Amino acid sequence: MKNKRIVLVTGGCGFIGANFIRLLNHRYPQWRIINLDKLTYAGNLQNLAGIEEGENYRFIRGDICDSERIAEIFTEEKINTVVHFAAESHVDRSITGPADFITTNIIGTFTLLENARKSWVERNSADGNPLFLHVSTDEVYGSLGETGLFTETTAYDPRSPYSASKASSDHLVNAYYHTYGLPVMITNCSNNYGPYQFPEKLIPLVLHNGLHGRELPVYGDGKNIRDWLYVEDHCEAIAAVIENGKIGNCYNIGGNNEKKNINVVEIICDTLDEKLGLLPSKAARRSLITYVTDRLGHDRRYAIDARKIAEQIGWQPRISFEKGIRMTIDWYLDHQQWVEGVVDGSYREYYQEMYGNRQKIGK
Ligand code: NAD
Ligand code: DAU
Repeated sequence: MKNKRIVLVTGGCGFIGANFIRLLNHRYPQWRIINLDKLTYAGNLQNLAGIEEGENYRFIRGDICDSERIAEIFTEEKINTVVHFAAESHVDRSITGPADFITTNIIGTFTLLENARKSWVERNSADGNPLFLHVSTDEVYGSLGETGLFTETTAYDPRSPYSASKASSDHLVNAYYHTYGLPVMITNCSNNYGPYQFPEKLIPLVLHNGLHGRELPVYGDGKNIRDWLYVEDHCEAIAAVIENGKIGNCYNIGGNNEKKNINVVEIICDTLDEKLGLLPSKAARRSLITYVTDRLGHDRRYAIDARKIAEQIGWQPRISFEKGIRMTIDWYLDHQQWVEGVVDGSYREYYQEMYGNRQKIGK
């Protein structure tokens, strides 16, 4: 990459965003990263502990729906790259409360696109090769039967408020490319797992409950299938797309690693038993598995055909599920303080400690 990138990362305090900032910070020390995050319940500054504020990194607490603030950031920082992670991301929450998903995922993406358009297309103000990379999901394609894979040309068929809001944002991103020539790319990725994932998602939830001998809720018959990808592989794929992707393209990213939910839960149970011994009652952790009412509209199977990114960009996942799940379990066992901080809510105080006296919040 010849030109210096000044990257606005949205949602950099979330699970994937934080892993991505860690990768950029290490891999591209000459790039400047501006992390814009609202710090919702899912945003945790501790996910970035050790990343120093300075020439290469700045954190701004703010909302992607706040157009004035975003305009200021584009001008102040001369942003030439946006990597857009910020979103409401949990399907179950979208079922019980869809409003925030519509606001952040649709209006927020629109607000970022408008500011990028005004800055880069109208005022032609970007130095280097501007790029708006929108990080999306395989859920936009709907649900698969027993066979078949999602490709980049699979018709969109979202079924939850979450996936419908992400599909809507993908369409807006494409519309800005075709209508205004905004330099965009989209990535659609499968289920991620790894360090810093909020313990409401299947893997960290089961890990946490399994550790404490609590029930492990499995929705429906447990045979829904997800294609799991270690988060570091996803971040590597995004970096590869920034480097070598083609403007106007979308790229599917997947782990080539389909697993039934029940099998994932059993693997976590067995690994915890092996590492920590059986429960105090001498029972194996599989005894904690509890089948519960199914998620409404629960998509049956996701599976990604990732040949395009492999053939055109040369990216492939490097971490097998067997290795990745052990690394994830070890990380959670070694970072119990992080987990406890999230579970008891004290992670929210960290903002005040870190920035309370130093930086204004938004406007
Ligand atoms: P996350 O929920 O862990 O993090 C989301 C982050 O966005 C948080 O830091 C939160 O504070 C921030 N945020 C939310 N609303 C905001 C707003 N209005 N303004 C600014 N910041 C806001 O999510 P994640 O799992 O890291 O997912 C990141 C992105 O990747 C999302 O766009 C998601 O759709 C996509 N994705 C996730 C997965 C997955 O398996 N987790 C897979 C494919 C794609
Ligand atoms: O496919 C990519 C998507 O993966 C991302 O776009 C989403 O942001 C991310 O949250 C994830 O969505 P899922 O709904 O697939 O992930 P979740 O961890 O919530 O659930 C995984 C599977 O496990 C799903 O089939 C539902 C099931 N499940 C989940 C929970 C939380 C259970 O059986 N029990 C549970 O307690």
